[in-house]
Amino acid sequence: MKFDVIDTQPKEILLADYAAYPFAIDTIALTFKLSPAETIVTSKLSCRRLGQASTVLELNGGPYMSLLSLHMDGVLLEAEKDYDLSEEHLRVYNAPKSFELTVVTSINPQENTRLEGLYLSSGNFCTQCEAEGFRHITYYPDRPDVLSVFSVRIEALMEDYPVLLSNGNPAGAGEIAGGYHYAIWNDPHPKPAYLFALVAGNLACLTDKFHTSLGRDVTLNIYTLEKDQAKCDYAMGALKRSMQWDEETYGLAYDLDVYNIVAVSDFNMGAMENKGLNVFNTKYVLASPDTETDTDFAHVEGVIGHEYFHNWTGNRVTCRDWFQLSLKEGLTVYRDQEFSSDMGSRVIKRIDDVKALRAAQFPEDAGPFAHPVRPEKYIEINNFYTATVYNKGAEVIRMMATIIGQAAFRKGMDLYFERHDGSAVTCEDFVQAMEDASGFDLRQFRLWYSQAGTPEIKVDVKKGQGSKTILSVSQTVPSTPGQDMKKPMVIPIVMGFATEHGDCLSAQGLSSNIRPLGNGSFLLMMTQGADEFTFEGVEPTAVPSLLRGFSAPVEMETTLSELQQYFILNFDTDSFNRVEMSDLLLKKEVYKIAEQIEASQTKTVSNKLIKSLGQCLEAYERDPALISSILSMPSENDCISSMKRLSIDAVFEARQFLGKKIAHRLRKSLQSVYLSSRSAAKSLSLKGDKQAVHFRRLQNVCLSYMAKTGGHAENRLIVDQFQDSTTMTNKLAALQALVHSSIGKRKQLIRHFYKAYRKDELVVDKWFAAQALSTHENVHSEIALLQNHRDFSYTNPNRIRSLIGMFTMGNLSAFHRRCGKGYEILANAILKLDDINPQVAARMLTPLGRYHKLDKERQVLIGKQLKRILAKEGLSKPVYEMASKAYE
Ligand code: PHE
Ligand code: ZN
Repeated sequence: MKFDVIDTQPKEILLADYAAYPFAIDTIALTFKLSPAETIVTSKLSCRRLGQASTVLELNGGPYMSLLSLHMDGVLLEAEKDYDLSEEHLRVYNAPKSFELTVVTSINPQENTRLEGLYLSSGNFCTQCEAEGFRHITYYPDRPDVLSVFSVRIEALMEDYPVLLSNGNPAGAGEIAGGYHYAIWNDPHPKPAYLFALVAGNLACLTDKFHTSLGRDVTLNIYTLEKDQAKCDYAMGALKRSMQWDEETYGLAYDLDVYNIVAVSDFNMGAMENKGLNVFNTKYVLASPDTETDTDFAHVEGVIGHEYFHNWTGNRVTCRDWFQLSLKEGLTVYRDQEFSSDMGSRVIKRIDDVKALRAAQFPEDAGPFAHPVRPEKYIEINNFYTATVYNKGAEVIRMMATIIGQAAFRKGMDLYFERHDGSAVTCEDFVQAMEDASGFDLRQFRLWYSQAGTPEIKVDVKKGQGSKTILSVSQTVPSTPGQDMKKPMVIPIVMGFATEHGDCLSAQGLSSNIRPLGNGSFLLMMTQGADEFTFEGVEPTAVPSLLRGFSAPVEMETTLSELQQYFILNFDTDSFNRVEMSDLLLKKEVYKIAEQIEASQTKTVSNKLIKSLGQCLEAYERDPALISSILSMPSENDCISSMKRLSIDAVFEARQFLGKKIAHRLRKSLQSVYLSSRSAAKSLSLKGDKQAVHFRRLQNVCLSYMAKTGGHAENRLIVDQFQDSTTMTNKLAALQALVHSSIGKRKQLIRHFYKAYRKDELVVDKWFAAQALSTHENVHSEIALLQNHRDFSYTNPNRIRSLIGMFTMGNLSAFHRRCGKGYEILANAILKLDDINPQVAARMLTPLGRYHKLDKERQVLIGKQLKRILAKEGLSKPVYEMASKAYE
């Protein structure tokens, strides 16, 4: 691909070029003299040359920092003679065998809107160093395989910054002249620079304790702005549950005397696992029922767990290089998913995780940004914190656990820590530990790390001779950028045979590629382009229930008849597959209607589908959360990612039509289930019963259907819920229903919501997000108005995500309007953000890479916006990489 607009193409970094760093940095002693406009950083490195290698010590740096002085063993070094300084590197010549290097730099945190390195949030200092932020604080080998023992001294004005924090354990504090004070922190565990953190500010603190299985008393602190202190109890509970869970599940205990969490409002990502000092986006710490939803609570628990689990999977054992990012992220996502499953409902957690994987990872794998779980090249590493590295990475770990079994997986984890504690390793090292501990041959399985693309499998079920049942399964892996030819993957398919009275248990005579799992399910090990699996003695009426629990991240097609599909929906013992089946049937119906639209035929809706959904709804009481998932409409995103040949206009229209039809045809049941789940939720929550969450979930799925009728009684109930509810879960669900509705007081009520919560940033985010999802005709001008709202800001990533992110990734029918205005809104926002926060700007480009299902005209319109972006002078590296990939 060629661009006349960019003259110097940023350099690609290749996995194949990896070379170990030729020096050891045994210790680093940092001193920070903090001041918003000019902070002085002194860094003393004790360096040791490894072997006879180079005598040039190369340190990373960046353009936002000035070098004030450089000393080697106390002697001032001279530019050009002793060292060279470029925008990105400091090269020190004639390095002896071992020496001490003292680097003094000055930085301006106040001007740092990129939110990497040292910056200010609400007037408080904080840092973000992953992946390559430390190089904007001082010159250093900023790579994950250089581990060093850090000690830190922080000096700041006592009145403005009473709290001074860094990694490790506190080792002294006191006053100094002029109203200043200092604090010293020592971290005994050697670590890479990306795990460094510093926080200084005026913060309130919630404190608790945890006693580890190894007898250590750990102080737990959660620091926030004073006004947010009351919302930290849930996060604290989640932290203690995480610590307990990791001890019980993996025998892993915490290893420092303090565990500090700081919540900040301005943060590029969700949270960061800095050793002993996690920095969190407030969104994943604060939780109170009147301002956060049940979903928010679940996310807080999950992210608190995630960062805590990184202490072992990420910090004690870290990555050799950034190509190995999934080593820590895939594994840690898997661990946090398992933790949440154990704390709540396993099947609901799995349903939600698979939904998230399909929403974010499948489209990534199918478009211009597709890359393997372990990428082989990048321009900007920050662009690789992706759903593929995180979520598909977690699926890869999950498949290994399925294949070798839970007990062997635990042994593999033990061996992994035994071998690699304290070092920086590769994905290969992890798989090797699993292989050695289990005795399984995982050679072919490793393809999951190197081959991109979502495998597609086709399952054909046949009756063979006698009582034989044969499953013929074939697979193909689609080509992806830079990878045309693919090899067959190892695909573990968990399945069972569903009958009206549970799983069929009489299957025997299994072919050697089938393993019974002992619970009525079997594990089919697919390893070739086409495999056959044979069973004997399966009851003739039993229906294969395939890919239970989504045992592999693949797209599946089967030859099951419609009768069999409905059978799975109604009778499968695997609840996960019941939800999968309703999703499939709903999508099939959407596509059927879309075809009718394209052929200008009358639109019809299957009675059978409505009837089955109605029956599920009537039986809501046994499992309200499951029923809520069975009933949920597949998202617009879902509908277009699995459609074939149709136009998105027809699919969006069909989806809306079907939703409305369901709402009308099940009107009575929806209202009555709405009312009874509303009162069940209420009385359960008074008793403090966690089941209340499940009833609320169902209540609000009913509400969203009810809103589609536009009926008087329904509108009344929406307004009542909006006005009466005391939980944000219900309030927000009502707000969302209101936004789409044509209720007379609509505007007034939306304004009312804002007035009531304007002081609470996270709720204002929800207010922006709800409106970004509007289905109204004038949504583009609504978005424009919101961009001019006094609370909208390009410097706060949460705000950007709630308006621009929601509109472009959650409201596809509005974003993809034929006029192209949606694309223009996004490109304008990206161009503006590029100067403020390139990392976030680059992430916002995601929807511009999802055009493969669009018609030519839309592709042209998107191309035009990409060209505009690429033509910007001084375009940042992260945005360049994303835009040029999308532009192809
Ligand atoms: N490592 C963080 C996590 O997954 C994510 C992160 C990456 C945060 C880069 C900030 C910057 O927990
Ligand atoms: Zn992580």
